[in-house]
Amino acid sequence: MGGKALIQQVLLVDELEQWVEQYRSKASEGKCASYIPALYRADPNQLGICIIEPTGKMHTAGDWEVPFTMQSISKVISFIAACCYHGIPYVLDRVDVEPTGDAFNSIIRLEMHKPGKPFNPMINAGAITTSSLLPGQTPDHKLRYLYAFFSKITGITPMVNEEVFLSEWENSHRNRALAHYLKDTGYLACEVEEALEVYLTQCSIEVTTEQIALIGLLLALDGFHPLRNEQVLPKDVVRLAKALMLTCGMYDASGKFAANVGLPAKSGVSGGIMTLVPANRKTHSPFQYGCGIGIFGPSIDGCGNSVAGVSLLKHIAQEWDVTIF
Ligand code: DON
Repeated sequence: MGGKALIQQVLLVDELEQWVEQYRSKASEGKCASYIPALYRADPNQLGICIIEPTGKMHTAGDWEVPFTMQSISKVISFIAACCYHGIPYVLDRVDVEPTGDAFNSIIRLEMHKPGKPFNPMINAGAITTSSLLPGQTPDHKLRYLYAFFSKITGITPMVNEEVFLSEWENSHRNRALAHYLKDTGYLACEVEEALEVYLTQCSIEVTTEQIALIGLLLALDGFHPLRNEQVLPKDVVRLAKALMLTCGMYDASGKFAANVGLPAKSGVSGGIMTLVPANRKTHSPFQYGCGIGIFGPSIDGCGNSVAGVSLLKHIAQEWDVTIF
């Protein structure tokens, strides 16, 4: 690495460390998810970030190495996996692409809009449908497909946090209600308990900010893996997933996030956020060739988004002039 590039990288990391420390205290404005007891035990003051560039260069700060469960970030992966297997039209016949403006686990619109098609795959109703669509006759087969898909694109063998899975399995009354409703209206491709097992297991896959930053990078590059020099995901599916992340990925705060940060993103109740910056050579941003970003900050707001994570991203977007708009 040349001297100038090295100095720039040191400056970036210094800046990142400084901002992480500045926004860590935002955690006090939220709290760890209490409806899943295993998540509530996380240290709310943690905040970490990993940014990966197409060259593979990583910029990290704070608690970036702490493992956490993907939760709703997994909805992006299962949606992409279902589309890759069945094709986009088949999946969109069963789940729509409209934002709701409601809470992630809301049931209200399923009954309001006949015949009960879930609004989008980023909310629980749509994600349970998507999980049921994964290929395989049993939850085990569907999960094996998802794990193989995850490994194929990331090169990482997924690990499930059994404690989080069990904690959620025992407390998933709302998701069971959603799944029963979807079964009744014909929007579930398997039995209720099977779909829940797949959905809750995928939510319990353990990752670090580095792994979600890598997935973010693949999305930023429309499915191209720059280090393997290989198209690992179809461009049309990735573009659809990014549109859904922008419009629905931060739940009932998706509009605010698009307005304040301006990047496609997906959050999870464990405090993770996966986002990305597409290439834009017209800006003077340090990430003009695009990047993937993974964030972890377990204290969440009422919408289910990391409080410190969203504040940090807003700051980064302004300082580094990154936006898709
Ligand atoms: O379905 C649930 O309740 C969770 N396992 C996933 C929800 C989630 O991450 C919503 N996020 N912000």
